[in-house]
Amino acid sequence: MLENQVSVKARALVVGMATYIPGLQGLTGRKTGGTISARYCYSVWLRHLSMLHRSALPTTFARMVELGPGDSLGIGLAALLSGVERYVGLDAVRYADDTRNLRIVDELIALLSDRASIPDEDEFPLVRPLLPSYAFPADILTSARLDVALHPKRLELIRAAISNPATSARGGGPLSYIAPWEPGVIESGTVDLVLSQTMLEFPPDLAAMYSEMCRWLRPGGVMSHEIDFKSIGLTVEWNGHWSCSDALWRLVAGRRRHRINREPHSTHISLIQRVGCRVVCDERTVQRSHITRAQLAPRFRHLTNEDLATSSALIQAIKPY
Ligand SMILES: C[S@@+](CC[C@H](N)C(=O)[O-])C[C@H]1O[C@@H](n2cnc3c(N)ncnc32)[C@H](O)[C@@H]1O
Repeated sequence: MLENQVSVKARALVVGMATYIPGLQGLTGRKTGGTISARYCYSVWLRHLSMLHRSALPTTFARMVELGPGDSLGIGLAALLSGVERYVGLDAVRYADDTRNLRIVDELIALLSDRASIPDEDEFPLVRPLLPSYAFPADILTSARLDVALHPKRLELIRAAISNPATSARGGGPLSYIAPWEPGVIESGTVDLVLSQTMLEFPPDLAAMYSEMCRWLRPGGVMSHEIDFKSIGLTVEWNGHWSCSDALWRLVAGRRRHRINREPHSTHISLIQRVGCRVVCDERTVQRSHITRAQLAPRFRHLTNEDLATSSALIQAIKPY
């Protein structure tokens, strides 16, 4: 137990415990990460798109749902500007605002018009997945495709939708933003792509989450998720959260607005298979484990050696016809 406690950062423990004091919970989770930057959104979208292409999965989509867009809808806006017809952003908290989205869409239009290369590891060292090449994917986003997607009339429509986003998935325009969302907001079999970037480490009921996502997809529809399995800085070791007992973790995670579910890579793979989807791409980021098997909390003794060394993964899967 002492070993386990040492793994937790003192500051994380103090903050976690403070969140139990009435009124202090709101001090956590005020910002979400990268989507405040247009170049980050452009990079993330093009990484998912390039990896879909590498996996021989579709790269054109009528309807896309993003889970957890965060500070802006920039990843979805990059998708719309690449030809996706309709985008629905679902978040647990309403972080994005129109002013930021409008600034980001203009920067994205410039990046796509310039066929800018994909911002790489030098600019975003922590962003995954990594790509073998960061050249602009002109074979996917052809001039013909971009001419239609970036037509001035369409850009007008997208800007108008940003200023007045639909708040239900049934809205007629190109963009809906529903935050907070609830299961049932998306009709069955209507979605071509479900995408998330560092979001699936949060939902407490992952089985329900995957079954909901699979329900949304039409046959032949795909999901593309980049998932971070690290302890988001709460422990000294990147995977120290797997050494924490549930009691200790309750203190460290506290009532923070977003608490990681601590599920490892293998849980995600088996849940995807259980809901009937087929994993096509499983690109793991491997990092040496800094905890031993003996340090694992009882709840995590089942982790495989592969789980213990998987710090993130891009998982892409298809719903069979
Ligand atoms: C680490 S942030 C990532 C934000 C953004 N995708 C990015 O790449 O910067 C996690 C996001 O997931 C959202 N989130 C957490 N649980 C969620 C849930 N059950 N449904 C939808 N979004 C959720 C959070 O509100 C937050 O926006």
